[in-house]
Order: sequence, then C-alpha cells, then structure tokens
Amino acid sequence: MRVSGQLAAKLKDLSVEVQHGVSLATRTSLEIGGTTDELIVHRYDRFAEVMSLLASERIPWRFLGGGTNVLIGDGELSWVALHLATAKPGTRVEGNFAHVDASADLGAMVTFCAKHDLGGMEGLIGVPGSVGGALRMNAGAYGTQIGPHVREVELYRVATGKVETLLGCDIHFDYRHTSFAANDVMLNVKLELPSKLYKEILSGIRMCNEKRRASQPLNQKSAGCIFKNPLGGSAGRMIDELGLKGFRVGDAMVSDRHANFFVNAGRATCADMMGLIGAVRERVRVAHGVELENEVIVWQN
Ligand code: EPU
Repeated sequence: MRVSGQLAAKLKDLSVEVQHGVSLATRTSLEIGGTTDELIVHRYDRFAEVMSLLASERIPWRFLGGGTNVLIGDGELSWVALHLATAKPGTRVEGNFAHVDASADLGAMVTFCAKHDLGGMEGLIGVPGSVGGALRMNAGAYGTQIGPHVREVELYRVATGKVETLLGCDIHFDYRHTSFAANDVMLNVKLELPSKLYKEILSGIRMCNEKRRASQPLNQKSAGCIFKNPLGGSAGRMIDELGLKGFRVGDAMVSDRHANFFVNAGRATCADMMGLIGAVRERVRVAHGVELENEVIVWQN
C-alpha cells in the first residue's frame, strides 16, 4: 500500500518517517513478507494523533514490532506497517521497577536489568523480539513468563482511540495468550523484578542460553515455534515422532533440529510456509486427533 505525498507530509509533522515500498522480508526473522510502506513513529506522545490521522484517511495498518513471531503474506500488501522507532536502551530502573519502552529489545532489557541486580527474567534471554511483542504474547521460556512481572502497561487502544494505562492485575496472562485486544498497541511497560546479584543472574542466563543452543536452530531463519503446545503435550515431539524433520514445501522446511521450528531454507514464500503448516497440522490431526493451534501470528494480505 502506498501513502500519498500529502499524507506523508502530514505524518512528518507528527514525527512519523515514511519509508516507501519496503520489503517486509527485511523486517522479519523468517525473511518472508511482501511489500508496503513503513511508517516509523518517533514520538510515543503523538501516537494517538497519528492513529486518528490514519483513521480519518482510511489507511489500513498493522503494527509490526520485532518481527520475530509473525508470518506475513506475499506480494503487494493492502495495509501499511506501523513501527515504533527503536529505543536504546529503552529501559529505566527505579528500585525494583523497570520502566521499559515497548520497542526495546527483550534480551537487551533482560541484561540491562541484570546489570542493575534485577532478575527473574533469565529464561527470556534468548527469546528474540521486542518487549511489546513479548507482552502481547506473554512470551515465556524455561519456566519464566513476562506476565507475572507486569505492573502497568501503557497502550493505544483502537477501541477507544486513546492511550490508556492498564494495571497488571487487570490484564489476564495465560500460556502464549493475553487479554489484550488484537489491535492494542503496546507503548510502555512497568515491570516489578526481584533483587538478585548480577553474578547469579548471569549464571542463570548462561544456563538458558546453553539449553537453547542445544535444542533450537538459532542460526536458521525462523519465527520460533510455529504451533502452541497442546495441553499436556509437545507439538515438537509429535511432529518429530511422525518423522517430519526435514519435510518441506518449497523452501519452507521443518527444522532438522527442533520439529516445531519451521525454517526458511532459502527463498521460502508465505504460501510455502502456509502449505507446510497446513500439511503438518493435518498429519498430526490424523495421527493424534489433535488440532494444533498456531503460535506464530499470520498476516495474509
Ligand atoms: N522434542 C522432540 N523433538 C523435537 C523437539 C522437541 O522430541 O524435535 C521433545 C524434547 O525432547 C522435549 C519435549 O519435546 O522432551 C519439549 O521440547 P522443548 O524442551 O524443546 O520445549 P518445547 O515445548 O518444544 C517450549 C516453547 C519454546 C521455549 C522452550 C523452552 C512452546 C510452543 N514452545 O518448547 O518457545 O523456548 O519450551 O522453554 O511453548 C516459542 O515460543 O517460539 C518457543 C520456541
């Protein structure tokens, strides 16, 4: 989708940078995605104005964070990609509280807090993506989830057209699921973290890194796990037991390292990846009677 010069000028007045014709394959860890204009929002305090301008101009949009858990359609996309300018470090520590910009890198936030002797998030260290994305999905690994640490979230709600602050106790965090609306845009979060010595946090971080390196295809293009684990089961094990490691549709392939990671083994398209997801889901359904649910977020055109 192309933004007109007139609208680009209005957006510029709101500190939004417009990049025309961006291949979103360059913005996602799967390196899959079609082309559209990208709107980079530099001032969080003008976010509501930006959204109201897009609404009045009837511009469809999708909010793209770190791009590490999303599968985007091929070709010319019918919506613009909204993105918050990356904050560095994007984290401010005050006692046991960390105030973090949603665009901050999750791993960088964990290490920043560790250096201030705040722990509890060691398990999240190798989860790629932004803090906002981690919040939305309630990212978790190695027994840690971000949800229980959340005290406040500042977000833009399409439903009200306003920036609002929600208290952690009013947000429901579940396994890879939250009570946020699909089109809520995370802006900031306040986390409460337990005091822990940097040295101790570091050894926890190292342990998680080793486990991850031993079992996951970290150097391949993926979006992490494709399916959620079914209650009491393991999607990875089920797919592996069906002998599907290495199975491919076009250049989309079930990782030979971890069967719930589907990788872009060359020039995979979204259609390839959707074909692979569908085929594997069907094989698991037939063999186990279980309908696997996507963990990856899919944005078709
Ligand atoms: N397994 C196999 N073959 C495989 C993969 C796994 O037999 O190809 C077996 C393992 O041996 C183990 C069991 O399945 O006995 C579970 O595997 P693993 O420990 O790798 O954990 P997982 O359930 O597959 C979950 C999360 C990961 C997270 C790890 C570590 C989901 C869908 N996945 O994976 O999160 O990193 O635990 O805590 O919940 C993600 O969300 O994208 C993600 C990668």
